[in-house]
Amino acid sequence: MKQYDFVIVGAGLFGAVFAHEANKRGKKCLVIDKRTHLGGNIYCEEIEGINVHKYGAHIFHTNDKAIWDYVNSFVEFNRYTNSPLANFEGELYNLPFNMNTFYQLWKVKTPQEAQDKINEQVAASGITDPQNLEEQAISLVGTDIYHKLIKGYTEKQWGRKATELPAFIIKRLPLRFTFDNNYFNDKYQGIPIGGYNKLTEGLLKGIEVKTSTDFFANREAFQAIADKIVFTGHIDEYYDYCFGKLEYRSLRFENEVLDQENYQGNAVVNYTEADIPFTRIIEHKHFEFGKQSKTVVTKEYPCEWDSGMEAYYPINDDKNTEMFKRYRTLASEEKEVIFGGRLAEYKYYDMHQVVASALVRVKSIFG
Ligand code: FDA
Repeated sequence: MKQYDFVIVGAGLFGAVFAHEANKRGKKCLVIDKRTHLGGNIYCEEIEGINVHKYGAHIFHTNDKAIWDYVNSFVEFNRYTNSPLANFEGELYNLPFNMNTFYQLWKVKTPQEAQDKINEQVAASGITDPQNLEEQAISLVGTDIYHKLIKGYTEKQWGRKATELPAFIIKRLPLRFTFDNNYFNDKYQGIPIGGYNKLTEGLLKGIEVKTSTDFFANREAFQAIADKIVFTGHIDEYYDYCFGKLEYRSLRFENEVLDQENYQGNAVVNYTEADIPFTRIIEHKHFEFGKQSKTVVTKEYPCEWDSGMEAYYPINDDKNTEMFKRYRTLASEEKEVIFGGRLAEYKYYDMHQVVASALVRVKSIFG
């Protein structure tokens, strides 16, 4: 009999949920992570008594009551509602695009006036068969919303001109003809009271964990001590990049502590013009209605990804999708390794989706 039933590589949400459920069923688990902390990308670093979302702003949202109840069973969530703003050339606009935005853009006061304005601009563009992201966006929302609120932001995000980006990136651009700034349509949203680390601690309570421990530094040893490996790291690295390297977009974060209580009056302000190199400023205390005397703000700069950098957004174009499929075929033949989470599945997952996916996997294994 081996020392562990499972060695779980990665202490992010997928690994932590899996470990919790396996432990609950009497299985012996060891969770390792190469980072110096647990939690993966939901980790919060405390600065000036404020929980700073180290790997980008994280707002939990879901329509699934079971998932909401599940995460709330480890830590109570607050009633934070995401209502981001956009700053374009010094003017502020509400997001998502709604009657407040339309009033700010055109001074229109009724849904009909707003709809007429958009229809007029879409018709004037003459675009019937969009060939790129720019044409696609204009054909959906017209020129004003596109130029002020979409173009610069999207080009910074992807590091490419909107005319060089494929139309499929934007499938829909929801327009809301009510005065409603709540970004998510989901029934439940919020932030764990006391920060995301409380969620991770709750999930991993009573389970053996080792941080600053890279699976690949000691691969054979980990395989020797466990019946099964749950792998939530990079799938291409697992197979020694035999089909090539899967590509990502990355982000660079610049934190600043400011000696003032309130910098921007909102957690999230997007900067939608091309000339400002960051895409947004996050003021973390507002996620938890903080009243500390200082504040911490983070500027978020999208950037090219290279090995050694944090991989944030998979680039699901044809080349990478084909490469991933070849890795997935290899993975499906493994008997003793379970692959899951955003890096192993080369997929953008929201938190509620990754929790759901771990629970589905648990069910398929333990019944
Ligand atoms: P995650 O990356 O968290 O965990 C994987 C872990 O494996 C990492 O800790 C890594 O160090 C470890 N690892 C990798 N290789 C290893 C190795 N060789 N040895 C040991 N350890 C290894 N979602 C949402 O619902 N609302 C939101 O607002 C946001 N916001 C957001 C912002 C940004 C910028 C991004 C990129 C993502 C979001 N998300 C989000 C998505 C959210 O971050 C995501 O759903 C989860 O963090 C995914 O959890 P995983 O466990 O899959 O990966």
